[in-house]
Amino acid sequence: MTSTQVAIIGGGPAGLLLARLLRLSGIDCVLLERKDRAYVLSRIRAGLLEQGTVDLLRQVGCDERLARECLVHDGCDLTFDGDTLRLAIHELTGKRVTIYGQTEVTRDLMDVHAATGTACYYDADVIRIDDVTGPRPRVIYVHDGREHTLTCDWVAGCDGFHGVARRTIPADVLRSFERVYPFGWLGILADVPPCSHELIYANHPDGFALATMRSATRTRAYVQVPNDARVEDWSDERFWNEYKRRLGPTTAAKVVTGPSIEKSIAPLRSFVAEPMRHGRLLLAGDAAHIVPPTGAKGLNLAVADVRRLAEALDSHYSTGTSTLLDGYSAACLARVWKAVRFSWWLTRLMHQFPEMDSFERAIQRTEFDYLKTSRAAQTSLAENYVGLPYV
Ligand code: APR
Ligand code: PHB
Repeated sequence: MTSTQVAIIGGGPAGLLLARLLRLSGIDCVLLERKDRAYVLSRIRAGLLEQGTVDLLRQVGCDERLARECLVHDGCDLTFDGDTLRLAIHELTGKRVTIYGQTEVTRDLMDVHAATGTACYYDADVIRIDDVTGPRPRVIYVHDGREHTLTCDWVAGCDGFHGVARRTIPADVLRSFERVYPFGWLGILADVPPCSHELIYANHPDGFALATMRSATRTRAYVQVPNDARVEDWSDERFWNEYKRRLGPTTAAKVVTGPSIEKSIAPLRSFVAEPMRHGRLLLAGDAAHIVPPTGAKGLNLAVADVRRLAEALDSHYSTGTSTLLDGYSAACLARVWKAVRFSWWLTRLMHQFPEMDSFERAIQRTEFDYLKTSRAAQTSLAENYVGLPYV
């Protein structure tokens, strides 16, 4: 394959969904993924889908298994030092959230591409993107030990935080904004029933914990750990004991423990790169922004980006105009920054920050108390949690 209309770098959720949307619009694209399928599927990520994400997966014909296996939630619990607020999401917003692992979304998208013959190349490592400000950019990649060149009209940088696309934007053009948090999330998967039918976000004096799930028989659980924590220092027993402590005695009594089938530590960061377009290079998903997993916005933001990018490319090829492409970056960033703000705010509310002084801890506690007593505050949280409208 030497030329196409749209070269997609990255075969995570953003790249895979964009390829599906473009194919349904009749736009020729080639997806290049540096790893193999098994590696991409081995990455365990969050599992909460906004309604917009579910609707789009249905629109592109990738929702059959999701509809069968997902869990739909009307609310979640937030606890603060043993005090509990149930956030009645559906009552407050009229919307629900869907629990379905990102790995499963990725698998479903891979399957539809395999079934429809989309040009997805694995073990294809993009090493450079040339001439992104010219009329025909060139994507240089290595596959089977040989260098190849893919010429295209547009390049979609869906290659995540560590990819090559964002680095192609000149330093004097790119503006980045970052906050690295002084802790990470130690997460496990275990084939034991969840301790609650909804999610529980817990701020305990010893740190944050999140009780979530992948199904009625598979638990996903997290505890906040220091940045220098090592997985090998956390036995399953140590994890479960700390998890139960932070959830409190009532919930702890419902925790079924069992062997972890996956255990990993994820660092937390907020990051935004501007602009999300440079010449004929357009960034989408983690290539342009990272959010702490607290608000479960990572996948949903990637979906919102590629939904807008596919619409802009479809408009360009069908009408010859570039209005939507010209407005792509500003339109995406308007929504990205609101999700970055919400994820930062919820992370600040629900975690123990080592550097917080007594005043800041009092403010954190007051923020929770205000949430408990104000329907307006709960509505604000809920409308961000379910996902702000696509504008
Ligand atoms: N060439 C080809 N592929 C690359 C390159 C490269 N130079 N660099 C990175 N990639 C691939 C990675 O191997 C990865 O599979 O790009 C893909 C990017 O996928 P993600 O990192 O999953 O990013 P995205 O598709 O934007 O999805 C965002 O994934 O990481 C989670 O929390 C994140 O939920 C969010 C979602
Ligand atoms: C998850 O299920 O992995 C998950 C759910 C909600 C979050 C974060 C992670 O806010």
